[in-house]
Amino acid sequence: MSLPPGFLEELRSRVSLTSLIGRTVQWDQRKSNQAKGDMWAPCPFHQEKTASFHVLDKEGYYYCFGCHAKGDAITFLRETENLSFLEAVEEIARQAGMTLPARDPGLQKQMDTHSVLSEVMEKAVRYFRMMLKTHTGREAVLYLERRALNEKTQVRFDIGYAPNRRQDLLEALTDQGVREEQLIECGLCIAPESGGTPYDRFRDRIMFPIRDSRGRCIAFGGRAMDENASAKYLNSPETVLFDKGRSLYNISPARSALGKKHPLIVSEGYMDVIALSQAGFETAIAPLGTAITENQLQMMWRLHPEPVVALDGDAAGMRAAYRLIDVALPQIDANRALRFVLMPEGQDPDDVIQAGGAGAFQALLDDALPMVDLMWRQASEGQNFDSPERKFALEVVLQNKTRLIKDAGLRRNYETALREKRWSFFRSQASTNYATPSKRALRAEPVTQMTKASRLAAREGFSAGHLKESIIVAALINCPKAVESMVDDLQGFDFHTSEYGEVLRVLCLNLPQTREDAETQVSEAVGKKVLEMLWSENLVHVTPCIKYPEDVEMTVITVQAELQKLAVERGLAAELEEVSRGAGQGIDDTSVWRITRAVEAKNNALEPTSEDQASYNTAENGARINRLEKDGWDKLLSEISFSKEKK
Ligand code: UTP
Ligand code: MN
Repeated sequence: MSLPPGFLEELRSRVSLTSLIGRTVQWDQRKSNQAKGDMWAPCPFHQEKTASFHVLDKEGYYYCFGCHAKGDAITFLRETENLSFLEAVEEIARQAGMTLPARDPGLQKQMDTHSVLSEVMEKAVRYFRMMLKTHTGREAVLYLERRALNEKTQVRFDIGYAPNRRQDLLEALTDQGVREEQLIECGLCIAPESGGTPYDRFRDRIMFPIRDSRGRCIAFGGRAMDENASAKYLNSPETVLFDKGRSLYNISPARSALGKKHPLIVSEGYMDVIALSQAGFETAIAPLGTAITENQLQMMWRLHPEPVVALDGDAAGMRAAYRLIDVALPQIDANRALRFVLMPEGQDPDDVIQAGGAGAFQALLDDALPMVDLMWRQASEGQNFDSPERKFALEVVLQNKTRLIKDAGLRRNYETALREKRWSFFRSQASTNYATPSKRALRAEPVTQMTKASRLAAREGFSAGHLKESIIVAALINCPKAVESMVDDLQGFDFHTSEYGEVLRVLCLNLPQTREDAETQVSEAVGKKVLEMLWSENLVHVTPCIKYPEDVEMTVITVQAELQKLAVERGLAAELEEVSRGAGQGIDDTSVWRITRAVEAKNNALEPTSEDQASYNTAENGARINRLEKDGWDKLLSEISFSKEKK
């Protein structure tokens, strides 16, 4: 393409960008300075209430601080009105009172080709429509009836029929003066490689015109009516009019219908869009038989900040959704998100509507999941995380995904959300596994019963347990840096004081780095009272690490030891409870064995083992380990628990 040198510069300098854009946007009068040609408005490329879209006349340039859309007059027209480069140039030239250098033969030819081919496509649309009304189209009419597409819908989507003859369209359109080369260039006819007369690409197919965002027909999708046809759908090839990766089916009507009740709905196929539209979801669009491209995503986000993706409920649909996540992650930010509808197994939106009507689809739409949920599902689905390696692998997968998010603030939010999912996932696994301390300590069987029993025991005055929990919570708020390495232990642990469970959840999910941050988060979650209580319990005097808030390692050791002790104590309590409940039938050998093991475990945990001592003694900074302090604290603790238990 060749324009005379300097033509574009001249064009840009003659047109006022603010007046060009002013026809599309509402300026923010307070923020703008008309005299200086320095204008602000809510961005036309994404939905927002504030004005982050900035236009500078002097520079001839616009930029959005929200979605980073940027460009000049030509880009603006191309993006908002979906014009080709030349059409945009032509339009601006017209407004600026400049004539295009018409004598440039290359340029003129290109523009002519476009509009001529567009006309050919419209002729084809009309011809295929007409065929539905003839005897030839009888089967097609019946097919459309079977697919429950009513007359109004057929008109709205310009649905037609290509007869089962080799040169039907070719003859009809050449009769109207269209040249064979034009039919070939449009992709409507195919020229045999061996030479000879061209023939129709689409035969015996239901025809769906594909239109660009200005409503011009740029391609066709053709559906075979015969279930045994070699290809169910046949689409136009890429032509000068049609760029698959930059087109979306039904884009223009969907755009007009937006902003009323439905979000932009992204489905997989023509029939889904049409069935959705007929059921009142007029904002449905679809890609054209290929995976959704980055470009198509951008197009969608220009229309809606959070399109809802409703792909088919089969393995392929799921794969397509996961692939879409990877395409989307680098692009998402506060104004660009996606949601996903989970379709019932083996169904597409069309099936759902045929079976359950609009209500059935609306219900699915209401339950659409945010993208982060689907990311979690993809990473965790059908997998077993029964080893540290596997857990770690999950972590790596999720990290690699979140790393794709460029927007730093959003990335942090995703990290937190995924930690939250990981937390509740392993916690639910833990309830049959790690959270039951007695099982670990004793390798005994009836897990659920014992857990129940240990809760009971706790309620009936094992306040030493409460104290130990307090120590754990206080130590971690005091030195939150210790939390990160203990998330697994903590999330598997069942805190009997429910506020503490909540506190630990908050700490594990947010990973605060300072006591100050930790306290803020904790009081937001459970109120200030809990903190006041914790600090008033004199824990400082019995918990050495509280004196050393910077000592992460000591905090970890202390908390781990406390967790361990709590675990075995509860195990013992549960054992006793259970054995005594069954005592009516006499105490058998198994019961004795179980109690003996439980007591052993308890003693091991409460009296520091040699291993325990080693870890205390070999910590790098020998000075801070105060054995006496630790012994004193253990003693105090056992006294407290002893006296309370006795009461
Ligand atoms: P589907 O097989 O899901 O088709 O393909 P559909 O839209 O549900 O159509 P019906 O209900 O069977 O009539 C989804 C999309 O994939 C493309 C088409 O764009 C189709 O709409 N496709 C499918 C092809 O391009 N070629 C094919 O052979 C099949
Ligand atoms: Mn279908």
